[in-house]
Amino acid sequence: MSSLLSRYRLLLRDELPVILRPLTPDDRERITDAFRRLSPESMYFRFWTRVQGANPKFIERLCADDDGQHRTWVIVIENNDEIPGVGGGSYWRSDGSEDSAEVSFTVADEFQGQGVGTILLAVLWVEALESGIRQFVAYVLDENHVMLTWWASLGAAHERQPHGGWELTLRLDESLLPDTSAAGSLRRTMAGLRAASKAA
Ligand SMILES: CC(C)(COP(=O)(O)OP(=O)(O)OC[C@H]1O[C@@H](n2cnc3c(N)ncnc32)[C@H](O)[C@@H]1OP(=O)(O)O)[C@@H](O)C(=O)NCCC(=O)NCCS
Repeated sequence: MSSLLSRYRLLLRDELPVILRPLTPDDRERITDAFRRLSPESMYFRFWTRVQGANPKFIERLCADDDGQHRTWVIVIENNDEIPGVGGGSYWRSDGSEDSAEVSFTVADEFQGQGVGTILLAVLWVEALESGIRQFVAYVLDENHVMLTWWASLGAAHERQPHGGWELTLRLDESLLPDTSAAGSLRRTMAGLRAASKAA
């Protein structure tokens, strides 16, 4: 049983109020629309392809009921039909490994740099840890400087992939986080989520 709430009200760095909650099967249209609006560059960084719009089979997998193997959290603006989503992050338990999961994030272009990725990583970290996962792995293109810089400043290990790009590995152990601005933001966000859950 997760200690997390099913919904959090949060403020982004520019004070915009948002809702953080798990993705549900009812979000299919919202997610399809959100991926359709993503810039070619963000799409490429997320899916390693320049094809616009996410594959419908991928959306189905994403929205499928939680079977303990994957989880997706989204950040949305309440009562706003114009912006389908601010961002989303998922983890999928790695094949053949009980304590490792692949993680991925997509933040809408106009909301990047507002701490959305940090909130998503924080909630996935807290939840994954409670499910026995001890490390997140992310696959990142050479050109994705934001992701490479962000995870380097969280102390992630990086390993070159034979066909290009990097495998980044982040241990889910707060005591290993370095003394950087990104790690401080992550720590504070996790503490905030835990405190809000306790207070509820
Ligand atoms: C990578 C991505 C998820 C980051 O999300 P974000 O909401 O922009 O990230 P945040 O605002 O939480 O910033 C996290 C950290 O990244 C670094 N960062 C963010 N934007 C940056 C920029 N433009 N330049 C350099 N570093 C940056 C900072 O260290 C920051 O932490 P800090 O501000 O607390 O020091 C987002 O840019 C994105 O969706 N990109 C397109 C898809 C993608 O690349 N997905 C990842 C593949 S798995």
